[in-house]
Amino acid sequence: MMKFRLWLSGALLLGLTSVAAAESEAPTVLPNLFPFPNATGILKTFNATGRLDLTGPFFQSLGTNGRSCATCHQPADGWSVSAAHVEDRFERSHGLDPIFRTNDGSNCDHNIDTATMEGRRKAYSLLRTRGLIRITLAVPAGAEFDVVSVRNPYGCSETSTLSMYRRPLPATNLRFLTTVMWDGRESSPQTGTKPITFATNPADLLSDLAHQAMGAALGHAQATTAPTQEQQKKIVDFEMALSTAQAIDFGAGALDVQSASGGPIILSEQPFFVGINDPLGLNPFKTPFTPVIFTLFNNRWAHVSGPEEHGHHPDRRASILRGQALFNSRTINISGVGGLNDATGLPVINGTCGTCHDSFNVGNHSTGAPLNIGIADVTNPLGVHYLPVITLRNKTDGTELSTTDPGRALISGKWTDIGKFKGPILRGLAARAPYFHNGSAATLKEAVEFYNIRFGMGLTHQEIADLAAFLTVL
Ligand code: HEC
Ligand code: HEC
Repeated sequence: MMKFRLWLSGALLLGLTSVAAAESEAPTVLPNLFPFPNATGILKTFNATGRLDLTGPFFQSLGTNGRSCATCHQPADGWSVSAAHVEDRFERSHGLDPIFRTNDGSNCDHNIDTATMEGRRKAYSLLRTRGLIRITLAVPAGAEFDVVSVRNPYGCSETSTLSMYRRPLPATNLRFLTTVMWDGRESSPQTGTKPITFATNPADLLSDLAHQAMGAALGHAQATTAPTQEQQKKIVDFEMALSTAQAIDFGAGALDVQSASGGPIILSEQPFFVGINDPLGLNPFKTPFTPVIFTLFNNRWAHVSGPEEHGHHPDRRASILRGQALFNSRTINISGVGGLNDATGLPVINGTCGTCHDSFNVGNHSTGAPLNIGIADVTNPLGVHYLPVITLRNKTDGTELSTTDPGRALISGKWTDIGKFKGPILRGLAARAPYFHNGSAATLKEAVEFYNIRFGMGLTHQEIADLAAFLTVL
């Protein structure tokens, strides 16, 4: 196993992280299901069209700053970036890798020192330590609120354009998306894109992704002209063919053997349609909601004997199985969640993880449902002192509210949308820490601890460990 891991990290160093930088030695194709190691196991991507071509427009510099899509969407990192790998890239490139650009890679884009290594270390601290990219958006015309003040620890306290700090979402498993971007802005009439619905899918998603790719090239890559329609289509076709999941856990062994159905190949066959399992009755065939979201692991898998024979530890499998059961059945008294409690008029919903993560074996919301669970709140128990404090005032009644990121409200202009984000896909998590839109959970255990505190779940240490183990093998 040791030899295997060394070989893999060698392959990683060979230049997957900087395809553009080391053109001559960089591989131009990867075998399908190429194994990428992370702290707890091995992540694989199944590409429906065969081997992975690393020369297409997704991997090309489409702009003026040397970045490609892969700069922030790395195959090894579940097609996002892990903060640990960003830090590696900083050290190896002395902070000059194309991800370190001041347009949106640094904490702020003015009054910063990027001439020295020390200056760059400071300027890119949020990207290095939390994998955060600066997203700038203006309050939309006609919004129900205006900006009173911005207190940004890095400068960039302008109120005309707000700076928010967000994690790159994975550019894989996209066929399950019911809204594009954390705030759904690439699936919104306000940006000329389309809401994703049962009736219009997948045409809506494909056009949203093409629009997103154009925006990413013009923004992140600072292109002076938009990618051609053909380039956009190639990018979208490329992304749509990818299915990514943890395939092997160092403790539990392969995740798709002995009647288990983890890993990317089975994920690529997962049935899905918009609204497939909506708790608010939006299933197009009126099929009732079920909280049993994940059915990847079962008793038979957990209790196979002979660890030396199959390279797994039975305790780890049992913990994962308990974690899956907790996800599917542990009651959460959901209260104060914007987009859910207010939408249903129920002050408390006796829900589960699956009330919000309802797509079968994927875990995003099966309809576009912006929700406020409190991740952007200044009182987020995980601690968000590293983020700006943005104070908004309701134009109708004068109420003031502080948040670290207005989320959906900066698209819709609605006061009630402040702090709302989408429930993201829960696959390939182990490869892309930290978690939540603002990277406030350093580990999956911390993500579970957030829910334990926020909803007073009373989880035991063992239950927290089991839930985290389960999330780790998705
Ligand atoms: C500088 C880093 C960076 C680069 C370069 C970049 N992205 Fe992203 N990407 C992000 C961030 C950050 C987000 C989330 C932003 C948000 O939701 O506000 C994101 C979101 C996405 C999403 C949305 C996924 C979802 O679940 O909604 C897709 C798809 C995507 N990027 C594709 C691309 C493509 C295609 C390119 C190249 C044309 C690209 N990105 C270049 C950082 C980057
Ligand atoms: C009330 C709705 C709701 C419930 C209940 C809920 N989640 Fe979430 N979850 C969300 C939303 C919304 C996000 C994105 C929040 C953000 O980043 O602002 C999220 C994000 C996550 C993430 C981070 C994923 C990533 O890519 O960063 C994990 C992990 C997660 N949830 C696990 C769970 C688990 C485990 C449970 C049950 C203990 C659970 N969630 C219960 C709505 C919910």
